[in-house]
Amino acid sequence: MSDYRESIRKERPLDEQLPIYQPDIIVLPTAEEVDQCAADTIIQQIRSKPDSILTLPTGSTPKGVYQLLVDAYRTTNLDFSQLTIFNLDEYWPIPHQHPSSYAYYMMENLYRHVNVNPSNIHIPRGDAPDAHIEAQRYEELLKQHSPVDLAVLGIGPGTTCHIGFNEKGSELNSRVRCMPLDVETRQTNSAFFTNPNELPEGAITQGIANILEAQNIVLIAKGPAKAWGIHRALTGEINADAPASFLRNHPNVTVILDQEAAQLLE
Ligand code: F6R
Repeated sequence: MSDYRESIRKERPLDEQLPIYQPDIIVLPTAEEVDQCAADTIIQQIRSKPDSILTLPTGSTPKGVYQLLVDAYRTTNLDFSQLTIFNLDEYWPIPHQHPSSYAYYMMENLYRHVNVNPSNIHIPRGDAPDAHIEAQRYEELLKQHSPVDLAVLGIGPGTTCHIGFNEKGSELNSRVRCMPLDVETRQTNSAFFTNPNELPEGAITQGIANILEAQNIVLIAKGPAKAWGIHRALTGEINADAPASFLRNHPNVTVILDQEAAQLLE
């Protein structure tokens, strides 16, 4: 495990100042409307460019969005067959078939219900023996397909402000690597494991730089547990204390919030 921690310690802030942009912020009354708005954005992307490259998240936030995508496949023949999809992250180490792995989550919530081509689905291998080598493989794969057309993100719970598993301390120039999970992330995410002790110690995640290379980014947040992080990311200093704040260095970001997640914004 020492090898991947070594690469994290090398992260340094960039010397140059990047331009700062104001994301489009959409606040909707309910979580269901957030799901619909996010799903509509993804559907529009797929219809306008059927061979889009997408980055997708897991977790509780996008579940409703994926259900709406599955509905669109069933009722309107939304075509997934030409898409290439990169997942943001995967726990490490974790067996591929573990019911709490993100590979399993994506299969259950989206991939097995639609006509996506299995060879166009990419998820870091949680069962790779060496996290560093697996991160390099994933980085290379992303590079070959770059740029991603649309990256969809959630934001971490409480004060984590993570995107992907870029925990506090993740810099703007960070790329795919294995991150140890933050204490707060561990508290929240252990609930997704039948045996909380099985929560892996890290995750292989796209870095901030990988995420910001996407042409368009959509961040979704729902519920009061996201209010502090949304406020910090959108109004606080842009730095590695709140990795989601780096989204303000990207010109095409849309943030879709329900009222609870937006409650600390003016
Ligand atoms: C998961 C991911 C994470 C989650 C975040 C929010 O692939 O990249 O950044 O988006 O931890 O998780 P939920 O949606 O469970 O609140």
